[in-house]
Amino acid sequence: MKTGIQSWLDERFGLSIITKFLKEKTVPQHKHSIWYYTGSAILLFFTIQIITGFMLVFYYKPTLEGANESVARIMTEVPLGWIIRSVHSWSASFMIAFVLIHLLSTWLAKSYRKPRELTWMSGVFLLVFSLLSGFTGYLLPWDDLSLSATKVGTDIPRSIPLAGVWVTKFLRGGEDVTGDTLTRFFGFHVSIIPVFIFILLGVHIYLIQKQGMSLPLSAELKKEKVKEIPFWPNFVYREMIVWLLLLGILFSLAIFFPPSLDKAADLMAPAPEGIRPEWYFLFLFQTLKILPAKILFLPGDTLAVLLILVAGIVFFFLPLIDNKPAERKGKIITITALVLIVYAVAMTVWSLL
Ligand code: HEM
Repeated sequence: MKTGIQSWLDERFGLSIITKFLKEKTVPQHKHSIWYYTGSAILLFFTIQIITGFMLVFYYKPTLEGANESVARIMTEVPLGWIIRSVHSWSASFMIAFVLIHLLSTWLAKSYRKPRELTWMSGVFLLVFSLLSGFTGYLLPWDDLSLSATKVGTDIPRSIPLAGVWVTKFLRGGEDVTGDTLTRFFGFHVSIIPVFIFILLGVHIYLIQKQGMSLPLSAELKKEKVKEIPFWPNFVYREMIVWLLLLGILFSLAIFFPPSLDKAADLMAPAPEGIRPEWYFLFLFQTLKILPAKILFLPGDTLAVLLILVAGIVFFFLPLIDNKPAERKGKIITITALVLIVYAVAMTVWSLL
């Protein structure tokens, strides 16, 4: 039964098309269905980032003199400021962790195959923008650690042949990391990157609605009929249980382990001991650290950056490379994913030790 307001809105916006679609939409139910919850978990953390980000922006000052002091004020003087900052920081890590889990689950399930190639490709861009969001946010508290990590991070693209120097300059807003970099990173973090994420999310989610959820390879192989449950309300209620659990974990961590803040960065001071980026960049950081200065005829870091670029391109075009019909299992793709997981975990642990 529609209320007066519902009918009024429906006449103008035609919302009943969406509600009809959601009522008819179903989700397959099988022993791997748990992975279907990872995408909506990312959406939960992204929403938290937007809400807490709006709150932080009221008090944060993106200037050389004001940045560190304004974060210290948020932590000590602004009512509930410390918990908002802590939730923003933890939720960023959770979002990226779930992007990685979601990516691996779709990779291992080979759900990027026809007709979901563009869902995967839009996902790769979402991964890049999620990482960029974490990278630009790390500088904003403007302490010694964030300044040094940004110097190291923005120096990496310099090794790209031809365009490298320009990319580093573009990121920094000049030759070095200065107050101009802070202003630029603030712009990237609060406007440019979120706008791109919103657009990509629109494409990603539209494609998922258009194509429905993929089935596990085993079910496709046996041409089995898989049980389906209604998206609304059954699947959404289950998602809500997952969100409640995740919110509980997020808030507990945010309350008991708030992020630290060092004194304001000094542009003239030498780099402090133990520079370290966020956990999701550690495996790359460690890889670059252990490379010899020269490999064959190329500088080690140039070779590493070139390898990362090539790997990124192969990864983006994976659905076109592994375009076999669902009946084929794609063992090499599975083994590559597993080797990469082991490599990334080993390098991260090494870097932490
Ligand atoms: C901000 C980041 C992202 C968000 C919010 C997001 C959201 C979602 C949602 C809600 C679904 C449907 C439910 C599910 O399978 O979990 C989905 C499916 C999918 N996503 Fe993402 N995603 C993101 C990033 C990625 C990345 C990084 C990749 C891979 C590179 C990817 C590839 C896919 C694929 C292939 C599917 C279809 C799965 C199937 O039909 O079984 N997504 N995504």
